[in-house]
Parts: sequence; C-alpha cells; structure tokens
Amino acid sequence: MRNFNEDNITQAVLDRLSGCSNSRTRRISEALVRHLHAFIKEIEPTEAEWAVAIDFLTKTGQMCSDTRQEFILLSDTLGASMLVDAINHRFDGESTQTTVLGPFYVEEARDFPLGANISSESGDEPLIVEGSVKDSRGNPISGALIETWHADNRGFYDVQRDTGKSALDMRARFHADETGRFWYRSIVPAAYPIPNDGPVGKMLDAQGRHPYRPAHVHFKLSAPGFETIVTHVFLDGDHYLDSDVVFGVKDALIKKLGKIDGHTSPGGQEATPGTSLLEYVFVLPDKR
Ligand code: BEZ
Ligand code: FE
Repeated sequence: MRNFNEDNITQAVLDRLSGCSNSRTRRISEALVRHLHAFIKEIEPTEAEWAVAIDFLTKTGQMCSDTRQEFILLSDTLGASMLVDAINHRFDGESTQTTVLGPFYVEEARDFPLGANISSESGDEPLIVEGSVKDSRGNPISGALIETWHADNRGFYDVQRDTGKSALDMRARFHADETGRFWYRSIVPAAYPIPNDGPVGKMLDAQGRHPYRPAHVHFKLSAPGFETIVTHVFLDGDHYLDSDVVFGVKDALIKKLGKIDGHTSPGGQEATPGTSLLEYVFVLPDKR
C-alpha cells in the first residue's frame, strides 16, 4: 500500500502491526499509534515544533546517569507516574496509600539497628521517627523490612552531593521488631525543588509551573505474604502540599510533627525536650 495521507496513515500503521504475535505488545503498540496520531492531529505541529519535541526527548535521555533519571522526572511531572501508581495499587481502604518512588531511591542502602541516627548532619533540627507495620486485620508484621530516605534541611538528597552514591546519608533499611515497630533518628527534611537544571526544568518553566515538592520522608515497606507499599509521609503545614510538582500528596499521608515534652519519646527513646516526632502506622495489604 502507498499514497499515505492524513486520512489513511493511522490505519495503515495499525495494519502493519497485524503480524505481532505477542498480544500485549500488539495492544500497547496499537494504542500508542492511535493516541500519538490523535495527539499530532489535535496540535498540528509545525516541523520546527516537531524538531523541538525530538530535541527535548534526546536531551532528556542524555541527561540520565547513574544518579540522575530525567525520564522519571518527566513521567512524574506529567502525572504519569501517579496514574500508573493508582492503577497498580487499587487496595482496600485500610491499606496505606501509595505514592511515587521518585528518582532518589537507592537499592543498596545500609542496614541499621533500630534506634540508629541515619543522618550525618548534627546541627539540624533533630527528628525522631516511630512507626509500626501492621496487616489489614491490625496484627503486627514482625520483621517487616522498612526502607526509608529523605532530603536534608536544605532540600538535597545524599546522591545529589558530589560524593554521589559513595557516601549514603539520611537513608537506611530497618527490620521491624517482633511487635511490628521501628524507630530511628534523623533530621527534619525540607521542601525542595526537583532537579530543574535539565529539560524537565525547562518544560516546567515553559508551562508556568514551580518545581517544588512538599517536605516528606520516603518509605518502602515489604514483608513475605504482603504487597509492598511505596509511599511518603508528608509534613503537615507545608506550603506545597496542594501544588506538589509530581501530584503525589494524599490526605491520609499527611502527618503533623509532634514535639516531645520530656526526655523520652512515646516509644521510649531518649530525647531532648522539644525534639520533633514523626509517628505513622503503616498497613500492608495481603499479597494478591
Ligand atoms: C522524591 O520525592 O524524591 C521525588 C519524586 C519525584 C520526582 C523527584 C523527586
Ligand atoms: Fe523525595
């Protein structure tokens, strides 16, 4: 077949996919072609605009490295990551709500004993985190793996420092005790702009959007027999809760920082009076 034009090219490309033997690949390819052609027909780009689009995607790829994932930022800022998250985590109301993993997760974080201080920064506002991990019937999940990471009080993650992944900080892996509880010390993280010195930053500028995320602590919780939950706990009162650049905020994930009155936290940790306290109960759904 020849002589393709605006009216017949979409069907021609779809027909070309008829030999695809993997039904999922075929379905995905067909949807991609249909939606891409519809998008082009809707915006009718000039050739110069199409070249800008290709250059944008090229630069997005070129920006990626071991410690920078510009495509994740693109997916996050277009709301695609949260949409994929929502589709894949249609859990019951009891389970902890999920949100984006983000580009700063590091699989090879260190194991720490319960109660450890995971921040090398001592002059910042100290934070005590006390959590527990339960199943949807309220039973503790003993030994659950808790992976946690957060930014410093200037809004930077360890991997954004010059040392990259060689000096991990403010991130750790813990195992819950036999009652499902875990606790650790760190510093209160600040709100921060996502890395915006690349193509995604330019896109946000062009769209008239700010690049900020409200202050939060990340958690990834897993245990045999349960679905893994990837989430954050957001600090109540943050200026950016209603305009998170990656659309990740849910009411159920917002917690007000407490202040410890005496010399002991509710979980029994030694504390200086006035230390901030973040408490959260995580509920893991049964494995589907
Ligand atoms: C984060 O919270 O670490 C994050 C999530 C999405 C994009 C950038 C950062
Ligand atoms: Fe984050």
